[in-house]
Parts: sequence; structure tokens; C-alpha cells
Amino acid sequence: MSEAAIASSAVIAGLPPGPPLRPLQLYRYMRNPYSMLRGYAREYGNLFTVQTVRVCVMTGRPDLVRRIIGAPIDQYGSRNEPGAARVFGKRAFTLLSGRPLRRERRLIVPHFQGEALTALGGMIRDATLEAFGNLQPGESFVVRERALDVALDVILRTVLGADTPERRAAFRDAVRALTKGYGNPAFLMLAAMQIKQDWPPPFRRFTAIRRRLENLLQDAMDRARREGPAKAAILNRVVAARYEDGTPMPDEAIRDNMITTLIAGHETSVVSLSWALYWLHRDRRCLELLLDELRPLGPDADLAAWMRLPYLDAVVKEVLRLWPVVTDINRVLAQPMQLDRYVLPAGTTIAASSAILHYDPDLYPDPDTFRPERFIGRRFGPHEYLAFGGGERMCPGSHLAVFELKIVLATLLTRYRYTLLDEGPMTVRRVGGAMMPATGIRLRLDGTLQQ
Ligand code: HEM
Repeated sequence: MSEAAIASSAVIAGLPPGPPLRPLQLYRYMRNPYSMLRGYAREYGNLFTVQTVRVCVMTGRPDLVRRIIGAPIDQYGSRNEPGAARVFGKRAFTLLSGRPLRRERRLIVPHFQGEALTALGGMIRDATLEAFGNLQPGESFVVRERALDVALDVILRTVLGADTPERRAAFRDAVRALTKGYGNPAFLMLAAMQIKQDWPPPFRRFTAIRRRLENLLQDAMDRARREGPAKAAILNRVVAARYEDGTPMPDEAIRDNMITTLIAGHETSVVSLSWALYWLHRDRRCLELLLDELRPLGPDADLAAWMRLPYLDAVVKEVLRLWPVVTDINRVLAQPMQLDRYVLPAGTTIAASSAILHYDPDLYPDPDTFRPERFIGRRFGPHEYLAFGGGERMCPGSHLAVFELKIVLATLLTRYRYTLLDEGPMTVRRVGGAMMPATGIRLRLDGTLQQ
């Protein structure tokens, strides 16, 4: 028999096997997706069908991840979920696919990268000092709470240009209410059940909360138009941007995209900063190496110099490898696709899992260990490192997120000394949409460095 014949005889139409008892899988996924996904990959092989928030075909195999994120633009359709539209809004680009997705992203994503970021660095340093600078020596605190202040402040200043404390306070309340609204178990349950009606009270309450934020955003957009694109804020640039045919993005789409950004951009940063401070203070050797690198530049270093530091870069990458905030990135097939021997029909959801991939011992030897050095002198391909997803949908905020993490860490570590109060290995718990380190990471401020 020829090789082609052997290969074709092995092809299977349909989904790969996976664990039974689907409701139990959803429950386990909500509690701890990391251990669940890795456990199933060991048990069923690194391509299996599982119930997460949807039934999906999951893999963390580098060759299959490469296929998933490298697929042509018309391979995937939109994630048509009524719950998502309710939260992000009908015009949010996260609900689009293919060419319409590309068209929207072209107007937004460039403002989150490169030159555009340089002007935002000072705001990030200010937000960090405001949130962490009022602690007294000996005082203990929960990193998550302070990090939430920084992350929200950063996004309000840099994305929406909220440059007065009053404007930020109004937005902060509205965003916190929104996060609480969609994190409410009754809301999540109704959304998971794909309920389309608007009358259930958790939906009605959420709509009112969202409207308040929409009104604030409309004011911010009107102001951004008056100020023009010279102001550094991302919103100012988005309202001035034009599609190829010269038309602007409609207001409703800008509002929905900004709400999507607010939601996607702040909890993710909180989790990553909490883990970074945890690992650095748990492994003092890594902390010392980082301090050796930061010390010569001092606390008021040029931000571009911090961006060039190899160990700081490696620390951020390693934090996002060990506990990727998003454990699996999902795509809905618009056309059939072959993964390994399985030909999956259109309509199937497939998922590439960083929680599995990032623990592949062939890529990352001794994967449970925090070891930033593994990123020094070694570049991982997009199919080997999935912290920000990949392909057409890759996180538009990835550059901003890394930029922010580096500035916050460098600002804190060049000014303050802390002790970790959490002992032993850390477990995780779900807070709203994100998995957080269970305690939120408790530190004590030991002192402020002489400057
Ligand atoms: C450490 C922080 C962050 C991490 C780990 C992270 C990770 C991710 C991941 C894995 C995805 C899914 C990508 C895919 O499906 O291929 C995503 C999507 C997204 N992220 Fe981030 N993100 C972070 C911060 C941010 C920030 C700061 C922003 C904006 C200011 C942002 C905005 C978004 C948006 C809008 C999407 C949806 C993209 C789409 O559906 O097309 N993220 N992020």
C-alpha cells in the first residue's frame, strides 16, 4: 500500500475521544482549568474532545497549534454567542471573523504598539506610584487589590485619556460595576444557557450598568474628537482613524470595542503582575538577578532602557508561561479542518491550550519550575508560546501588556523592598472571568530605598 493510501485509510471523520460526564468537566474547568487540561492531555493524548464553556477539540501539541494559529483567514467563523454580545456589544470586533475582523483590527491594533506606546510610559509609572506609594514600612497588603488599581488606572489613562482624578473615578466605578455584573453567577449561568431574552433580572440589571459606561464613553469620544489625535491616548487616535474608503468607525463600534478592551485588558494584567511579584519573592535568586540588572539604571531610568533589559524581559515571559491567564484560545470552524487523523466538520470549536503547551517538557524542561533563564538566548515560535494567543485574533494589547508589566515591576523593585507572606505552593481560584492566585498574593513592605 502507498504512503498516501495508508494516510487516507487512517483518517477519521468526527471528533477525537475525550472524558465522559460533560457537566463534571465544565465544573472542573471553572475551578481549575490548568490541572484539568493537563490531566486530560496525559490521559487521552494531546488531542481530545472536552466540555469547557463549550464543547471543543483541545490540543497543546506544537504542530497542531501551528496549524490552528496559522490557518487562512476564511477558515474560522464568528463566535456567535448571545452572552458575549451582551457583554462586549454587537459591534465588538471580538465577535467578528475573517475579513471584517481584519478591517476592524487594522483601525485599532496599531495604536497599541510601537511608537504609540512610548508616550504612555510616564502615565504607567505615575499610576504605579499612586497605587503602591502610600504604604508604610511594616504594612502588609494584597497585591491583587493594588494591582487592580494600577491596571484600571493605566487603561483609563492610556486608552481612554481620562486625565483627571474625577474622570477616572467615574469610569472606575462604572467598570467595576460592569465586571461585577457579568461575573455574577446568575448572569453567567443564563449566558451559558444561551438565553436570548432580555427580561431576566440579571440581564436587565446588566444592561443598565452597561448603559452608564456607554454614556461615559460617548462623552470621552466627543472630547477626544475635540482634542484631536495629537494627545497620546489611544481613543484620540481611534476616533481620528479611517478605513481604507476614508470613513470613520461608527460610534457604536468604537464604544463596543473600548468596552471589550477595558474588559480584556485589566484583569489579565492584574493576574500577571500578582504572579510576577509572587515568583520573584518566592525565588530570591531570580529577584537578586533582576535587581542586579535594574540597579545601575536607577528608579527614574529612561523607560526605553528598561525595555531593553534581557532578564526583565525573561521574567515577564516566564510568568506568562507558568500561569497563562487565558488557558485555551478558541476558534469556530467555518470550513472542515484536519487535525492529526481527525477531519473535523464545520461548526466544531477547536482550541489551542497554553496550559498544556507551556508545560511540554521537550520545549520547557522541568516545566513546573520558575526559571526565566530559559528565555535568554532562545526564541520560541508562535506555536510554542501562546500567552497572547496567535494568528488573526492574537491579543491586540500584548505590547501594551508587556510594556506595562515591565514598567510596573521596575518602578516597584527599584524603590521598595518587600517580603512574601504566603508560604508554600499557591493554588488558584476564579475571580470573575479570570483565574487568580488564591490569596491574591500577600506582601509586606519592608522599606523604601534611598534615592
Ligand atoms: C498580561 C496581560 C494580557 C494577557 C496575558 C492577554 C492574553 C490574551 C489572549 C490569550 C487573548 C486571546 C487571543 C487569541 O484568541 O488568539 C487575548 C485577547 C484579547 N486581548 Fe489580551 N491579554 C492581556 C492584556 C491585554 C490588554 C492590556 C488589552 C488591551 C488594552 C487586551 C485586549 C485584548 C482584546 C480586545 C482581545 C480580544 C481579541 C479578539 O477577540 O480578536 N489584552 N488576550
